[in-house]
Amino acid sequence: MSDEAKGQDTQTPSEGDDTRRAFLKVGVGALGAGLAAVVVAPALRYSLWPLAEGVEVTSGGDEFVVVGKRDQFGAVPVKVDIFADRVDAWNRTKNVKIGSAWVVELDGQLHAFSSVCPHLGCAVDYEAESDKFVCPCHDSAFGLDGAHEAGPSPRPLDQLEFEEQQDGKLLAIRFERFKQGIEDKVKV
Ligand code: FES
Repeated sequence: MSDEAKGQDTQTPSEGDDTRRAFLKVGVGALGAGLAAVVVAPALRYSLWPLAEGVEVTSGGDEFVVVGKRDQFGAVPVKVDIFADRVDAWNRTKNVKIGSAWVVELDGQLHAFSSVCPHLGCAVDYEAESDKFVCPCHDSAFGLDGAHEAGPSPRPLDQLEFEEQQDGKLLAIRFERFKQGIEDKVKV
């Protein structure tokens, strides 16, 4: 056998080995990727479900919530806290405080105001001495009818929707949030 032929004999198995190794690498890689996809895909689909399907991920708190008996509200403002169940795609949290309202009756007409100051969102209080609603942050003041009387608030207190239930025995309020720092009452 010539030297050339001997050289070919010694090279041929080596090239064959390289090819087999490369083929095995690709095969193992593809198998690994396939197995990973089988394991990961369902978990990914589960975690992305609400987003992928366009499902509303937050709900609760849009309904009327009973805040007390109708006859407990009169000419002196009463603050009530509003609770609701919050539901997102993964969790249900029961009885979460979603906001507060001031309820007052003026000339036989009931009013429910959000306690959120329309200026920058501080909590508005009722001041018995002046018989006004006041905001401690920047001294905005509002009449019992919610009218803006002083300070930087750009609008009156935000009225909330309410309804009487059970033949007028109960009062229920729908709490909503509105944009702060602007003249118009715009729902967030
Ligand atoms: S937040 Fe109420 S006056 Fe500024």
